[in-house]
Amino acid sequence: MKPVPTLAWRGDHLLLLDQRLLPAEEVYLECRSTQELAAAIKTLAVRGAPAIGIAAAYGAVIAAMETPESIGFLDDCGGLLDVLASTRPTAVNLFHCLDIQRKILFSSHSKAIAVDRLLSSAHLLFKEDLEASRAMGRFGADLLPDACTVLTHCNAGGLATAGLGTALSVIYEAHSRGILSGVYADETRPLLQGARLTSWELQKAGIPVRVLPDSAAASLLQSGAVDVVITGADRVAMNGDSANKIGTYSIALAAFEAGVPFYIVAPVSTFDPKSPDGSHIEIEERGREELAVMGGRKILPDGVKVYNPAFDVTPVRFITSIICERGVVSAPNEIEW
Ligand code: MRU
Repeated sequence: MKPVPTLAWRGDHLLLLDQRLLPAEEVYLECRSTQELAAAIKTLAVRGAPAIGIAAAYGAVIAAMETPESIGFLDDCGGLLDVLASTRPTAVNLFHCLDIQRKILFSSHSKAIAVDRLLSSAHLLFKEDLEASRAMGRFGADLLPDACTVLTHCNAGGLATAGLGTALSVIYEAHSRGILSGVYADETRPLLQGARLTSWELQKAGIPVRVLPDSAAASLLQSGAVDVVITGADRVAMNGDSANKIGTYSIALAAFEAGVPFYIVAPVSTFDPKSPDGSHIEIEERGREELAVMGGRKILPDGVKVYNPAFDVTPVRFITSIICERGVVSAPNEIEW
């Protein structure tokens, strides 16, 4: 059912579908060095919290392969893991996967053993994410009404995970159960993950999808045309506050006002025990060029500054339920976490 693989290990390198070029071109990148992979993560060739984590887990294998065997092997390789960790600060899956790989690295007694064990661990993380995606799809679809119309934001689909996605796994499952009427996908300024990626993958799966400008989401919700909002998350704090692509908070507010349920779908690897609440989540700030140029044309006068956060935090009081692979946390605002 997955349209094309997002990432795959190929013996001595990581193959990544270059998401910067979609939907115009389906091109695969071959990452053979930590630096190449770090650049791919930073520039969103691979993106989406779970996919970033899994890519980095394979990156640890590449790091061990490219570090010369010497007395300083562990520290040198550990330094390359730091390079991967410095790519994007908000998606906690990156740190979750790198922490696992770092422990494995530092308990390995030779380069060959490290490479072998890191690879098995990366494959396991891949498999666990795939299974999590299926389970979240089932739990989420159980919550949906018949003939359901869903609004989603950014891309939380197959392109963002090893499996069929987080938010979109619910949509795929609802489609296969015959209870999905259609999907509205916000275009998701400025990098257009909704327009370029979500509509691409849903169309490939034969799911009816309409793209709207982000600024139309509130009036769409007000119109009554949407039954539920479903998004992914890059980090869920211990009180349920959830960081996701910039614009998610505005949609949650509009959904709250319109009385439309707002669901977050995220695997346990996206829950951060180190963030007691949303104020502890670091929000990635991205560069001016993402707002200054559109379609190859300059759209900002020289010298004009920008505010370009990649994510925002939706407070838990606006979240109806959080769906993970172990089940559903209903009314997360009302429970003691
Ligand atoms: O900047 P991106 O494209 O990596 O942001 C991705 C998102 O915000 C997704 O909604 C989130 O990672 C969940 S993906 C399963």
